[in-house]
Amino acid sequence: MPTTIAVLSQKGGTGKTTVVRTLADVLSRVGLEVLAIDLDPQGNLSDYFDVSADADPTVADVLAGRARAEEAVHGGVMPANLGLAEAELMLAGKMGRETTLRRALSSLPDSFDVVLIDCPPSLGLLTVNAVVAADYALVTSAAQYFSMQGVEQALEVIELARDSLNPGLEWLGVVVNIANLRTTHSREAIAQLRERFGDKVFETVIRQSIRYAESAERGIPIVDYSPRSGADYLALADELLDRLGRKRERTKLGALRAELAAV
Ligand SMILES: Nc1ncnc2c1ncn2[C@@H]1O[C@H](COP(=O)(O)OP(=O)(O)OP(=O)(O)O)[C@@H](O)[C@H]1O
Ligand SMILES: [Mg+2]
Repeated sequence: MPTTIAVLSQKGGTGKTTVVRTLADVLSRVGLEVLAIDLDPQGNLSDYFDVSADADPTVADVLAGRARAEEAVHGGVMPANLGLAEAELMLAGKMGRETTLRRALSSLPDSFDVVLIDCPPSLGLLTVNAVVAADYALVTSAAQYFSMQGVEQALEVIELARDSLNPGLEWLGVVVNIANLRTTHSREAIAQLRERFGDKVFETVIRQSIRYAESAERGIPIVDYSPRSGADYLALADELLDRLGRKRERTKLGALRAELAAV
């Protein structure tokens, strides 16, 4: 069974899609078989993977029971498009609506090691499906005032899933993203998050850089597009693998970091 991680936040633009795209890339570089799932009708993750706009079937077909999960994987991603908004509406009226994704993913072949789910910026039915299907939840937050409320709201959804349909769900932590460490504003926001959530906040902070938007626009992972920016994500992946207890992959990642640092 793969390890499934849902990446969520109540607020928009906290870097969920970038986290999923980049971690999928970095984890596959250390030898893991990774599947990324785009669970956002905006389809940003699918674009970032540079998958064709008419790729078919998509995650919407999987949720609607028209396709098996495996059939909807195209180049490492299960893509989404606006059709997912329709699938969500349809799902709302069905029995077992919260467990649809979990049931669909249970038929995935064992060859996948990690499944990363990119949630939409709301805590609606799609995000609920993601946290119910996941072993771990990873919350992203921008380094801004008021980001704490966003994290609290995501935690409520995680608690809800734990109390009902997914008691084994673990909270991996909070990734502080898009930080401009030169500003007091960012530094204070990070300090507040650490004060409130302690070591649940990853030590690695992903710094702000225009390179991310450029890499997304070109559909090239950040480690290839800008190894310097990518270094933050290599550090984050190291902490993540540590929290997941994946020693062997951490060793491989160490070698990869040394290699990229020398470029
Ligand atoms: N570290 C960063 N520095 C600067 N910009 C970034 C960084 N990470 C992501 N971005 C950019 O910020 C924007 C939002 O990022 P992203 O799409 O990953 O967030 P999201 O949480 O998935 O958004 P949404 O809630 O709309 O799904 C994008 O333009 C992205 O390229
Ligand atoms: Mg997104």
